[in-house]
Amino acid sequence: MHRVLVMREGDWMLDKAKSLMQPSLRSAVPPFMVMDVMAAAARLEAQGRHIVHMEVGQPAAGAPGPALAAARAALGRGPLGYTETLGITSLRRRIAQAYGERYGLDIDPQRVVVTTGSSAAFILAFLAAFEPGDRVAVALPGYPPYRHILTALGCEPVGIKTGPQTRWSITADSLLAEHGVRPLKGLVIASPANPTGTMMSAPALADLIRCAHSAGMIVISDEIYHGLDYAFAAHTAAGLSCEAIIVNSFSKYFCMTGWRIGWMVLPPALLRAVERLQQNLAISVPTLSQIAAEAAFDGRAELEQVKQGYEENRRTLLDGLPRTGLDTFLPADGAFYLYADVSRFCADSFAFATRMLDEAGVAVTPGIDFDPVRGNGFVRLCYAGAREDMREAVERIGHWLKG
Ligand SMILES: Cc1ncc(COP(=O)(O)O)c(C=O)c1O
Repeated sequence: MHRVLVMREGDWMLDKAKSLMQPSLRSAVPPFMVMDVMAAAARLEAQGRHIVHMEVGQPAAGAPGPALAAARAALGRGPLGYTETLGITSLRRRIAQAYGERYGLDIDPQRVVVTTGSSAAFILAFLAAFEPGDRVAVALPGYPPYRHILTALGCEPVGIKTGPQTRWSITADSLLAEHGVRPLKGLVIASPANPTGTMMSAPALADLIRCAHSAGMIVISDEIYHGLDYAFAAHTAAGLSCEAIIVNSFSKYFCMTGWRIGWMVLPPALLRAVERLQQNLAISVPTLSQIAAEAAFDGRAELEQVKQGYEENRRTLLDGLPRTGLDTFLPADGAFYLYADVSRFCADSFAFATRMLDEAGVAVTPGIDFDPVRGNGFVRLCYAGAREDMREAVERIGHWLKG
């Protein structure tokens, strides 16, 4: 009798546990669709198909030689312990020095914080700068995790539509119009941007930051594609405001996606808050990656060659794709993306990308990932792959669209 009772109690506890085991409401963020396309492409490859990958935004090249050599040497030297929470001092100094080299700016290394990719930098920055419920402006189309991280943290991402009249960037006017609806606490800017590849001119960037600050907003500038600028040189928000939060990464220009390392340049007022958060959330950033990242700055010549490859790929696509019927793109100023208007071929970019993958063997990302409404008329093509793949893609897309 007693045993039966215990069993029943156990069942009840199990049922209770199951009912408690529901994902939280704030975890219900949309998936990052590009990862679904990648998985579908992998399934086709497992069946023996050759797929041209233009879906994921990552360099085909690996980390530069000096980074690899430094990592190998560090592995031979002995155990890798934790580092200071804000990052190894010499790396923070090296990053600060790079602001002098690239932009002629004098940045205090104390303001540099090393992070686990720029992805972790966004979590830290949003946590340090915003309260739950704060409204933060992001561009549409734009990089989806800005919106989804803000949502998961209880903030409200506010998508501001951009278009050709404003070169696909938020402007002071569009920002203030949204601020007038209900006050905004922050603004995320990216130039060059993902998925569009478009950049903001120095006056446009300065104007927007000035406007955001005078309306009391915190500005976060995602500069992960700096170094990959073709139309004109990218301008850092660090040169325009000491109050802006600058986010950057070793993933793109430095070809180190899998090393998961990035950084921020912070306004002094946020430093201690970010240090406390990172102490608790991560303790420190992977030591091997920090050592490799510092040495990556010595791989400039190699990295500039990789960049030259992107420029050639960009040219191949801009010259070749119009002949296939894909002839409308946003200004491809930087990064390694073409955002192509496919609205005359479809009203559903996910279905279009799925068919392109199945029938032409070319994997691209549906625009709906970046813009829940108008994204149905666009796909994003990443041109960070091999040169032969660009030619192959043009040929395959041409046959497919004409066939
Ligand atoms: C605009 C933008 N910001 C941030 C990231 C995150 O990169 P990571 O976490 O590798 O630094 C990406 C990755 O694709 C991106 O495109």
